[in-house]
Amino acid sequence: MMSTSRGGTAAIVPAAGRGERLGPGAPKALRSIGGIPILVHAVRSLVSSGRIGLVVVAAPPNGVDGVRELLREFGESVHVVPGGDTRQRSVALALDAIPETYEIILVHDAARALTPPSLVTAVIDAVAAGSDAVIPALLVADTIKAVDSSGTTVTATVDRSTLRAVQTPQGFRRSLLIKAHAAATAMDTTDDAGLVERLGLPVAVIPGHTEAFKVTTPFDLLLAEAVWSERDKAAERHA
Ligand code: C5P
Repeated sequence: MMSTSRGGTAAIVPAAGRGERLGPGAPKALRSIGGIPILVHAVRSLVSSGRIGLVVVAAPPNGVDGVRELLREFGESVHVVPGGDTRQRSVALALDAIPETYEIILVHDAARALTPPSLVTAVIDAVAAGSDAVIPALLVADTIKAVDSSGTTVTATVDRSTLRAVQTPQGFRRSLLIKAHAAATAMDTTDDAGLVERLGLPVAVIPGHTEAFKVTTPFDLLLAEAVWSERDKAAERHA
């Protein structure tokens, strides 16, 4: 249901990229897991939290009609707008399309198809509790090293305990996200919290979820199929 009450939450899904790292074939957001397109999974994760009044999806400008058709099951609670030439621009265009009544805004990667709705809820709760920018993040399992510009020689081993692998949805007080994007017209960041950091403002970290991984490579697609089929089996056991 579309909520227009002040204080509600809206979500932005930038999905206007080509997703070339998955190899040849359909754009990434249109690839399927368990026969369901990745973008549909991502929007379902948001909507099934029961806490989102509106989702605005930024689609490839030449694919808006197709993406609208794909997301028809969500009715008025999902709007599709043409994206821009960078991720940052796509988010800014979607942000422009969100009515002022929404005070909390999430930005969620379409590629994090199997994000549990509980993670969506946790991010919203953290913003509602007073953090104006919130990111979910996981501890880093691998040892991380810095390398030289050729990528062939190690220059340093980084202290892993102070590193986190960042996921989405990222959550923001609306006014802060608008300010961060307005201040960042010339840059192309890979996440929106980065724009808040550039303003010198704090970004709060909450625990991420392993199943909120980004489907980027063919291996990720295999992993996603496995996670999805386990969920299916669990749902059957509880039916
Ligand atoms: O290509 P990359 O994985 O960095 O893209 C991250 C996200 O930003 C993807 O969901 C992609 O669809 C989106 N994007 C966008 N507009 C662009 C480029 C990327 O919405 N112009």
